[in-house]
Amino acid sequence: MSDNYSIVRYLIYQLRPGLQLGETVLAPDGKVLLYAGTILTEKHIERLSYYNCDGVRVREFQSGVGTGFDAKQQQKKGNAEPEELVVSHEYYEADMAATVSEQETEFVSIYGNVVKALKRCFTIVRLEKHLDCELLHSIVDAVLTLSERGIGATALLHTATRSEDYLFHHSINVGILANIIGNLSGAFKPSQQRNLVLAGILHDIGKLEIPVHVLYKKGSLDEDELHMVRQHPAIAFKFFRHFKEIPESVRLGVLQHHERDDGSGYPLRTAGTKNHPIAKVLGIADVYDAMTSKKVYGEEVSPFAALDTIQADSFSGKFSPKYSTPFLHELCQTLIGRYVTLNDGSTGQLVFWNRNGKETCLIRFSDGQVIDIMNQNKLKVIKLVC
Ligand SMILES: [Fe+2]
Repeated sequence: MSDNYSIVRYLIYQLRPGLQLGETVLAPDGKVLLYAGTILTEKHIERLSYYNCDGVRVREFQSGVGTGFDAKQQQKKGNAEPEELVVSHEYYEADMAATVSEQETEFVSIYGNVVKALKRCFTIVRLEKHLDCELLHSIVDAVLTLSERGIGATALLHTATRSEDYLFHHSINVGILANIIGNLSGAFKPSQQRNLVLAGILHDIGKLEIPVHVLYKKGSLDEDELHMVRQHPAIAFKFFRHFKEIPESVRLGVLQHHERDDGSGYPLRTAGTKNHPIAKVLGIADVYDAMTSKKVYGEEVSPFAALDTIQADSFSGKFSPKYSTPFLHELCQTLIGRYVTLNDGSTGQLVFWNRNGKETCLIRFSDGQVIDIMNQNKLKVIKLVC
């Protein structure tokens, strides 16, 4: 098992015998249906369909999709019951952890370099009022590479080092998240995805014109300061006039990234279809990263609270469900298996989470007990540990 693999989500109808599960799958009652590492058989797939799973994560090996195991080899074993084909999950979990760790190191390394490159790019803008488009495109390429792992990249954004250079980290993160949200929505062509990333990287470039003591002020801003900060999308839009290389969709995306579908945003309070689809995606990516990042002027919140906020803003008509719903769904799935802290101070593992219909959130504690915290008044997840 030295092959490298990535974890890819498959819908049930896409599964076939011989694929290897990339996650432990639980039944709604919290019992294990199949462990991560299981080589799927027809019976396993039937079982997953029976439990109405809408999709599972599968390991895709670099040498090609699948496991390197031949499904027929499994069948030679006589179509044994699923339990007999469950592979020792400790072995696979250890193997998976090693691979993930290698991927994390690579991600953090590329991430660190691209943040430095953006710092250089923005410094040139600040000092020389010039946009180095060649450098910018190399940053877009790097961000596309970072977001290749899909929604899993969001977990790594929380582990990537953040420093006082919040604006550069945030801009790269919004580029990554915008690419992920756009891909999940299926609404953008590849060339538009590239523009989405570019707009994400540039969305707050107008803040370079805002005095630092206002931008990073601790405590609330007065009316004049708030007005000044809220001009940053318009400042960027005017700046782009000097650079024909920046496509119209990127200019509009940046100008409107604080506008909302219900007209409650700024600077122009445009609503609905008047807002460019790129701006709608940037709005979601911006809120998610701003909430989950450590900032100079405020503490970060857990991805769980950010998720609640985006869902509430989608229900109230600020965000388009077309873009927010697939992102929220995938985000829930990627948090499964992570260790979390509850508001009573206890720590456990999130083993199952369903937000459709009656919400179920199963936490497994160190004594082996699994409880649905939705049935426990006042208990809620407040922090992601790892
Ligand atoms: Fe902004």
